[in-house]
Amino acid sequence: MKTFARLVLGLVIFDVAVAAPTPEPINYDSETYDATLEDLDNLYSYENIPIDQAEIEIGTVMPSGNRELLTPPPLPEEEESEEKEEESTSRLIDGSSPQEPEFTGVLGPHTNEDFPTCLLCTCISTTVYCDDHELDAIPPLPKNTAYFYSRFNRIKKINKNDFASLTDLKRIDLTSNLISEIDEDAFRRLPQLRELVLRDNKIRQLPELPTTLTFIDISNNRLGRKGIKQEAFKDMYDLHHLYLTDNNLDHIPLPLPENLRALHLQNNNILEMHEDTFCNVKNLTYIRKALEDIRLDGNPINLSKTPQAYMCLPRLPIGSLV
Ligand SMILES: *[C@@H]1O[C@H](CO)[C@@H](O)[C@H](O)[C@H]1NC(C)=O
Ligand SMILES: *[C@@H]1O[C@H](CO)[C@@H](O)[C@H](O)[C@H]1NC(C)=O
Repeated sequence: MKTFARLVLGLVIFDVAVAAPTPEPINYDSETYDATLEDLDNLYSYENIPIDQAEIEIGTVMPSGNRELLTPPPLPEEEESEEKEEESTSRLIDGSSPQEPEFTGVLGPHTNEDFPTCLLCTCISTTVYCDDHELDAIPPLPKNTAYFYSRFNRIKKINKNDFASLTDLKRIDLTSNLISEIDEDAFRRLPQLRELVLRDNKIRQLPELPTTLTFIDISNNRLGRKGIKQEAFKDMYDLHHLYLTDNNLDHIPLPLPENLRALHLQNNNILEMHEDTFCNVKNLTYIRKALEDIRLDGNPINLSKTPQAYMCLPRLPIGSLV
């Protein structure tokens, strides 16, 4: 029974992984996938439900897309906080946990089993997978959602209430939708949001973003000259990846936060940069040591014109030096 249950959930997770194709290799951190091996371990709790119910789960995640054309993304990697480990350990105790006497396992009252979105999408622990479901709006999410994936759908707009009061939300991934509009308040009051992935959409204007973000990918959108507000990233002290490729941007968004490690701006329309874009012309001892990965290739910029602009960097930007 246990083995069979493992196999069934294994299939569910495999299916989720396969249904999340990546059009081109993306250099994300290991933090990308949160359905971890640990989630597989939560399997034990599947013993509590009848097998035919588990089969229904599989049925709901069958995608309609043309899967064989698409490359599966990297397998889920282990990446969990201690906090989360503790949580799942108590789940394995299966209802006998003293703090939660009414608790009944992974599909019990705490896991949104009867939440309508979880019948359509797949909810595993605090992760909600809605990839490839032809959705045209963000579905209502369980209040404890921490990781939300809704890639390869047809969502056109993000409304101000879509994520309202989801205070546990840590990652939003809406890669490959049709988003052209985002309400100014859509991401406000998400105190834990760390990763925002909106690549491959039609976004023209970025709303206000929480300063807690560590990872932003808005590549392949339509931000153009005005889509990013002045000083949009200034106060993001923990931001380490900023990916803004293929957006027709005509400038480098400044100031760049101090802890930024990777800045990808390839295939834009950036024409010039200044000596103080990265460095501090008034203080030659200043070193921007975190910023190791700057991509400016595919821009009409001649990096040789500003030789002083790279003095404080650990590595030269990649781009045209002719
Ligand atoms: C120059 O930069 C260094 C390194 O960031 C800093 O310690 C120093 O205080 C700066 N000096 C001035 C005059 O701002
Ligand atoms: C790039 O700038 C350098 C230095 O100003 C100059 O010598 C070179 O001709 C420029 N290249 C192009 C293609 O404009």
